[in-house]
Amino acid sequence: MRSIIAGNWKMNGTLAGVAGYAASLKAADHNAALIVCPPFPLLPAFAAALAGSAIALGAQDCHAREAGAHTGDVAAPLLREIGAAYVILGHSERRADHGETNADIAGKVAAARAAGLIPIVCVGETESQRDAGEAAEIVRTQLRHSLPADFTGIVAYEPIWAIGTGRTPAIADITAMHAGIRADLTAQFGDAGGKIPILYGGSVKPDNAAAILALPEVGGALVGGASLKPADFLAIAAGAPSV
Ligand code: PGA
Repeated sequence: MRSIIAGNWKMNGTLAGVAGYAASLKAADHNAALIVCPPFPLLPAFAAALAGSAIALGAQDCHAREAGAHTGDVAAPLLREIGAAYVILGHSERRADHGETNADIAGKVAAARAAGLIPIVCVGETESQRDAGEAAEIVRTQLRHSLPADFTGIVAYEPIWAIGTGRTPAIADITAMHAGIRADLTAQFGDAGGKIPILYGGSVKPDNAAAILALPEVGGALVGGASLKPADFLAIAAGAPSV
């Protein structure tokens, strides 16, 4: 399977920047499947700019309900209607900033699936949890409670202490965590769990991407800061192994 390289713009970007960014991505050559996840208001402009290309669009959150009195939230069917194919759910910044629980995330995952969106569900430990030797158990609990029984989609392992810090786990630790997540997914979902792509996220940059993307059970990368510049995002995609 081709590596999935998803760019999480977080709360960055402007309407004026969309056309140039999309043009750069469309012109590039690489072995990866690209997904761009900009802020909600940029999705329609991106959908127009990427029309006819293989580059997919994702949102950064959705609500668990299809519609209703939820001021400031966005429903999954609307995201699908305006051209998103994916949605990031349970990012650690949403878990921290908005108090999202595993149960909240499971509800959003179900809503995303019902709307035809592919969820990218984030899990990962804090630095103190890692230091205490609890990383694998924390992630196992997040998987067990954030993914509904009929889950299909993508999982992203993002150690919280590696996000936006320029620090990444040792290669051996990424390998061990991804092997553990694969075992957890297989225990949870049987054969289907063996096919769920597991992305790595947290300070993926052009200079470390190829080494990370080559690891067993690393199905791609969820890229924050380095996805904002098309040259960096494409350099990361260029690190994807050929298939
Ligand atoms: P980063 O963010 O690449 O800036 O570390 C990754 C993420 O939060 O998805």
